[in-house]
Amino acid sequence: MVDLEYLKRRMNRRQFNFGLLGTAGAIAFRPFVSQLQLRVNGARILEHIHALAQFGKNPQGGVSRLAYSEADRQGREYVMGLMRSATLDVSIDAAGNISGRRAGSDKSLKPLLFGSHIDSVPEGGNYDGVVGSLGAIEVAQTLAENNLITRHPLEVVIFQNEEGGLIGSRAMDGELTEKELDLVSRSGKTIREGIKFIGGDPTKLSTVKRAKGSIAAYLELHIEQGGVLETAKIDIGVVEGIVGINWWDVTIEGFANHAGTTPMNNRQDALLAAAKFIEAVNRIVTSIPGRQVGTVGRIQALPGAPNVIPGKVVLSLELRDLDAAKIQMLFEKIKTEAGQIAQTSRVTFDFKEINVNIAAPTDARIRNLIDQSAKELGLSTKQMPSGAGHDAQDMARLAPVGMIFIPSVGGISHSPKEFSRPQGIENGANVLLGALLKLDRASL
Ligand code: HGY
Ligand code: MN
Ligand code: MN
Repeated sequence: MVDLEYLKRRMNRRQFNFGLLGTAGAIAFRPFVSQLQLRVNGARILEHIHALAQFGKNPQGGVSRLAYSEADRQGREYVMGLMRSATLDVSIDAAGNISGRRAGSDKSLKPLLFGSHIDSVPEGGNYDGVVGSLGAIEVAQTLAENNLITRHPLEVVIFQNEEGGLIGSRAMDGELTEKELDLVSRSGKTIREGIKFIGGDPTKLSTVKRAKGSIAAYLELHIEQGGVLETAKIDIGVVEGIVGINWWDVTIEGFANHAGTTPMNNRQDALLAAAKFIEAVNRIVTSIPGRQVGTVGRIQALPGAPNVIPGKVVLSLELRDLDAAKIQMLFEKIKTEAGQIAQTSRVTFDFKEINVNIAAPTDARIRNLIDQSAKELGLSTKQMPSGAGHDAQDMARLAPVGMIFIPSVGGISHSPKEFSRPQGIENGANVLLGALLKLDRASL
């Protein structure tokens, strides 16, 4: 016999009624607490989002919580406190990733990982990475409050420096190179200094690497960061695959000279060459059909004075697509055209590859479990690719992965105007919880 008073104490009234109606009395035959209609506390996730938003807060809204900044360190402290409250066993690995572990009942099983990141781009929003991180902690808290022990050990992971090129997750799959540690991150610190700053140890990075097959699966909840779900009025995106992202630093060298005395036909203007290059990137990327994108998002002209012809420009080039061969093909075309610009503008171009995030498919079985979990909650779903990069793409090199998207209002992200509705956030966290419990019962 099921104890109805016991169930009521475990659930709020709405969930209790839904449970009885939704299962037409089948609850009486469900032996495990894990199979009850568990729900996260959506209001608590929102409270945590608002509290985390204080670290790195900008006057215009949103946050600049750049990896390795003081705001990042404070945000990480806050999040570790939440993890401890959720009775997770918290540690920082040598790369600076935060882990919160919870034992499972079957010691022979590998851990199920789930999480995201809390660092932001400069002048970013309050939802990118945050929804998945705080959603994951809420799932752990919900399990703890319901005394639910999963079969698999669980591990909530908050990856460090996602926005600077998936640094923490690439340390976990062993892709982070020693050379990269000396690159200067957007906080002004090198990655090596940054890792020390957040409590890691860059001399022990090899201890962070997990063996392929040592993780049962990885799940990540994230905002869509585009407008597909909102436009189609769909609740949940089931991610099919995550784009590859390649970054280069492009240095253009001309000749700095007097802007008043050097005739227009006798200049080696690196910034003028950069302008032609930026136009060429856009033209080449849009010259073939497909979802590929290319961006020049950062530019610095030197010496940077109104009365000096720019002698040097350093800019970023980013190309994204699900197909690495297409990225390479576009890059070759861009380089060829840069060669032509170099000749006509009497400058030189140098391309330095600084980061490669390999595209990754998600696991078909996990996609199915996410879809089922959403449908059980009465939520609509759509299978879709991710145009944004995620730590899940590195975890896909170690384990089967799944990603859950919720709508981004107006399709805006990497902006202070980034917003996801409270109901969307609660839906996403409940789907994460449901999919995690299904994964725990399944043997992939
Ligand atoms: O840049 C990206 O795609 C991600 O938001 N880090
Ligand atoms: Mn982002
Ligand atoms: Mn993100």
